[in-house]
Amino acid sequence: MIEEAMEYIRRLFEGNSDGHDFAHTMRVYRNAMEIADSEPECDRMVVALGALLHDADDGKLFGTEHNEHARAFLSSQGVEPQTAEKILSVINDVSFSKNRDRKPELPEGCIVRDADRLDAIGAVGIARTFAYGGKHGRGLQDSIAHFHEKLLLLKDMMLTEKAKEIAESRHQFMIGFLRQWEKETGA
Ligand code: NI
Repeated sequence: MIEEAMEYIRRLFEGNSDGHDFAHTMRVYRNAMEIADSEPECDRMVVALGALLHDADDGKLFGTEHNEHARAFLSSQGVEPQTAEKILSVINDVSFSKNRDRKPELPEGCIVRDADRLDAIGAVGIARTFAYGGKHGRGLQDSIAHFHEKLLLLKDMMLTEKAKEIAESRHQFMIGFLRQWEKETGA
């Protein structure tokens, strides 16, 4: 079923390149499974499917409502309603804008939210910030502001111990990048 989910997502994101693409989903999935290894009480299937489907109904990309894509996939796989509801709750707890301060109800939700946030920082976070800025007509210096407004805050918002640990070196990498940027640009 995991492989089916990957294939479903790959087709859904075909042709998309603003950072919320198939590669992003796969990195979030890998981050989530790494965190799950340190959280023995979690349901790994819920974590895996929550991670793989977390952007399947992204409002910026798809006009779907009520997790239409995720629901369609889960029912096509015959996932039990109770498990499907858990997975949908995990997906709905990931969004940064919708849930800024509210902690996910399920431990699996904490894992997938951390996994998604980890993909916004470090080397990948830097690359995604400029790719997104370029696509939306933002200059390099404007994208730098995004680090201070959001990315540098994420390390302290991680919920699981494992994610805090992974975030630390990614955070330091961004600090080093910004220092070098200031040195080279005088800005
Ligand atoms: Ni995401």
